[in-house]
Amino acid sequence: MTLEVLAALLKWLLYGGALASAGAVFARMALGVQAGEAGTAMCRIITAGAGLATAAAVGTTLVLLTRLGGIFESGALAAVWLGPAGLAAGLQLGGGLAMLLSSIFNGRFGWSLAGAVAMLASFGISGHAASLNVPSGLIVVFHAAAAAWWLGALFILRRACIALSNVELLCLVRRFSRLAEGIIGAMVAAGVLLILALVKLPLELTPYLVALSAKIALAGAVLALAVYNRLSLTPKLASSGHAAARRALGLTIGIEIAVIAAVLAATAILTSLTSPHQ
Ligand code: HEM
Repeated sequence: MTLEVLAALLKWLLYGGALASAGAVFARMALGVQAGEAGTAMCRIITAGAGLATAAAVGTTLVLLTRLGGIFESGALAAVWLGPAGLAAGLQLGGGLAMLLSSIFNGRFGWSLAGAVAMLASFGISGHAASLNVPSGLIVVFHAAAAAWWLGALFILRRACIALSNVELLCLVRRFSRLAEGIIGAMVAAGVLLILALVKLPLELTPYLVALSAKIALAGAVLALAVYNRLSLTPKLASSGHAAARRALGLTIGIEIAVIAAVLAATAILTSLTSPHQ
């Protein structure tokens, strides 16, 4: 495996861990009361996600140092730690550890929240959008935070399909739907702004554009599943509350989570192996 492919793989694990852990923190805050036991169970997702993101951040830094000349080479060390990549890695390590320790030792929720914010802020320090200007960096942080909330809320809903009563589940699904319309809409709008900032006209079929199109197609598939849940499964849950409707909801949420993992793989390829400037 080449170092470039290893870097893309580690980026995928970083995105997965960062969005799952930070998203579980945000979604627990937004859905906490309605989520009941399903919200409390999110500790496991926060621990696993933060552990994965922290390990991936260490791996990414080691790969970057190796690519720049060697792990103990002073020039490579200075280039990484004194530049945006080092600051981003620092935020990822600090944020990951804050979430990890706070969830393992049942610490204050404020530490998890600060860790989640630091983890996502790292995407606004280093990356294609971050290297353009500060507004683009802020937009990418907002885009990733909204996507994280969506993923975290899906984990809570999936657990709720097993753990909550029909009335509690319906209440939670309705609150999720009300929030999701605005948050997911804003995430897509931020994605469009990023495209306008990163992709220059006239369009050419570059590897960047191919990877971006694959990502948007996969994101479109998750959005279609979300609309199906909202328009078809939620009314069934309300009218019958039957076990079959709960099972179908749990299944489609599981598929949504799997397709989001594929969106993140496409994003990792986009940001590690291609460039909008080529
Ligand atoms: C399930 C939905 C989505 C998820 C989980 C997701 C996730 C992410 C993440 C984590 C990043 C941060 C990359 C970084 O700077 O390190 C990102 C960047 C980006 N996203 Fe999304 N995204 C989703 C949907 C979309 C949609 C619908 C669009 C377009 C309308 C979009 C367009 C972009 C663009 C253009 C970037 C910047 C890529 C670059 O830096 O070259 N995303 N996305």
